[in-house]
Amino acid sequence: MAVSLNTLAGRLEASKGLDVLADKVQGALSRLPLNAGMRSTLSGTWLGHPVHPLLVATPIGAWTSAALLDLFGERRAARTLIGAGVVSVLPAALTGASDWLDTSGSERRIGAAHFASNMAAAAAYGGSWALRRRYYRSGVALSMVGAGAAIFSGWLGGHLAYAMGVGVDTNAFNVADIDWTPINVKVSQDTLVGASAGASPLVVTRSSSSVHAIGGRCSHRGAPLSEGKLADNCVTCPWHASRFDMATGQVVAGPAVAPQPVYETRERDAGIEVRRHEERALRTNSVQVTPA
Ligand code: FES
Repeated sequence: MAVSLNTLAGRLEASKGLDVLADKVQGALSRLPLNAGMRSTLSGTWLGHPVHPLLVATPIGAWTSAALLDLFGERRAARTLIGAGVVSVLPAALTGASDWLDTSGSERRIGAAHFASNMAAAAAYGGSWALRRRYYRSGVALSMVGAGAAIFSGWLGGHLAYAMGVGVDTNAFNVADIDWTPINVKVSQDTLVGASAGASPLVVTRSSSSVHAIGGRCSHRGAPLSEGKLADNCVTCPWHASRFDMATGQVVAGPAVAPQPVYETRERDAGIEVRRHEERALRTNSVQVTPA
């Protein structure tokens, strides 16, 4: 079963036909009046976590509960929950669309299939809600179709997050040394320089008071921050314009939701040295601890 699902996922990832759908959806979304602040809100910058996974729980929960109510003959309550689920698709779809707009290639194709399945589920449940008052059995049958589409869509959403890493902090599995490490670069004031500490990319700058170093791979979708722009001691990502404070790594503007790893810096005669020092560096899966 897992093998055939993986085969299906591979086919969808490579399907150029989905690019046609993706172009159409992207064209429609680009006409919505969404500015950068709204995009950050929809993405979850204010929450420090993508909002979409939280909101999808509402339609899924409503529709699943409606199926149970159908089993127990609670027709009216089931219909109410189906209607509530359909209404709650809108905020879930908007947040998902905001995340999807920053994807490309195979991620964008799977996202388009996820979107189409969600719309099919919402349409089937909407039809079920309309039919149930007079044609209850047909309404229940249509909600079964909706359940199938919703399950398929949920699987695609899981594939996007767990297999393709969309929405995951790209620094979650960073390897970092907690010992002082030379980075062998020269940094002048108010310029950005790319460097590395072992296997971890960095972006480094010098302010009037000190040298600042944060992770060089954008936590959003992995852009090289050393190719971004520096202003007010913040770096703007070259891909989707998230801004990060060079001193604290915090997100100043989205769509990124996770901060950049921060490195402590010091200057020695041989040059600049860095080490990870903040609490997140102590996650067991993200730090390479030097053996005692
Ligand atoms: S990769 Fe999207 S904001 Fe940096």
